[in-house]
Amino acid sequence: MSDPHHDSVQAIVWREDALQLLDQRLLPQQETYLTLTEVAEVAAAIRDMVVRGAPAIGITAAYGLVLAARERYRENPDDWTVALGQDAALLLAARPTAVNLKWALARLQARVKAGIDGDPEPVLLVEAQAIHAEDVAANRHMGALGAALLSPHSGVLTHCNTGALATGGYGTALGVIRAGVAVGTIERVYADETRPWLQGARLTAWELLQDDIPVTLIADGAAALLMQQGQVHWLIVGADRIAANGDVANKIGTYTAALVARHHGVKVMVVAPTSTVDLDTPDGAAIPIEQRDAAELLRIAGAPIAPPDADAWNPVFDITPAALIDAIVTEKGVVQAPDTAKLRAMMASDSPAIATANA
Ligand code: MRU
Repeated sequence: MSDPHHDSVQAIVWREDALQLLDQRLLPQQETYLTLTEVAEVAAAIRDMVVRGAPAIGITAAYGLVLAARERYRENPDDWTVALGQDAALLLAARPTAVNLKWALARLQARVKAGIDGDPEPVLLVEAQAIHAEDVAANRHMGALGAALLSPHSGVLTHCNTGALATGGYGTALGVIRAGVAVGTIERVYADETRPWLQGARLTAWELLQDDIPVTLIADGAAALLMQQGQVHWLIVGADRIAANGDVANKIGTYTAALVARHHGVKVMVVAPTSTVDLDTPDGAAIPIEQRDAAELLRIAGAPIAPPDADAWNPVFDITPAALIDAIVTEKGVVQAPDTAKLRAMMASDSPAIATANA
C-alpha cells in the first residue's frame, strides 16, 4: 500500500493564469480537466457539479473571483469593485447549502474592501491560494484529531465523497479515514454508493483505490444490515454547513445513516473545517436545502431508469440533528456532544486545546 497520508488526486489547479477543474461528472471513466478563464464558466461549473464538495466549491469560487477581478479591472481600472460585487453574487447563487462558498467569497471581498492599489488580480490570487493551502493544512490536522478517536481494528462507514476531490486536498471525513488507515486503527472502510449522484461509488471508491486504500462499496440501503451485523464502529461524514447548535447539513442520506447508527450503538463523527461552521444560522431548520432537477433521479448517466414522466423529489442535502452526533472535528479541535455553547467556544478559540477540553 502506498502512504495513505498522501493524496494523489487534485481536483482544483491554478495553472498558467487559468483555473483547471477535474470534471467530476466524468469520473471514474474519464480524467479530464476543464480550463476556465471566465467567472460565468466557474459559476456554471459549480452549479453543474464539475466540482462539488463544500470546501472545494469555496476554493473554486475564490479562484473564480480572481478571474472576475482580472476582467473587471481590464474593463474599467478606475472603478471595478461594483461590477466585482455582481460577479460575487453570481458565484454565491451557484449552490445554496454549502456555506464555504459564502465564507470564501466574503474573505476575498473583505480584501477588496480593505483597499487594493492597482491591479487586484495578484492580490486576490494570493488570498485564494491561501484559502486553498489552509484547507489542506486543516484537513491534515483534522485527520490526526479524528483518527485519535478511533479504537484499534475499527470498521468505518462513510457517505458521499469528502476526499481530495471535495476539498483543497486530503479530505475531511476521508482525511480521518486516510489517517486511521495509516496508523492502523481502521481495519475496514465501507462507502455508501450515495444516490442519486453516486459520489460514493464514482468518486470515493475511485479516490481511495487511487491511493491503494481498500474500500467496500454498499448500496445506501445496506447500511442498516451492515451495522446490525456489527461491522461498523463509526459513521464518519463531512458537512456542507454546521449550524450554531451543532445540527449538520450534509449529503442526502446522512440523516438516515445517523439514525441507524444511533439505533445500533455506532458512533457518528462529523469532520469539517471551521469554514463550514455558520454561527449566523441558529439551527438546522434555518439551513437552505438545495433541490435539484428531478431528472437526476430519473436517469443514470443519461440512461432512463424510471418512466420519464414520473414525478420525483430531489432534495440533495438533509439535516442531522446535533443530538445524533457524537463528535464534530474541526481544525480547532474536537467538540463532543455538540451544542451551541461548545461550538461558540470552539470557534472563539485560537487553540485546539480549548476545544478538545470541552467534552
Ligand atoms: O452535492 P455534493 O457532492 O457537493 O455534496 C457533497 C457533500 O455532501 C459532502 O459530504 C460535503 O460537502 C463535505 S465535502 C468535504
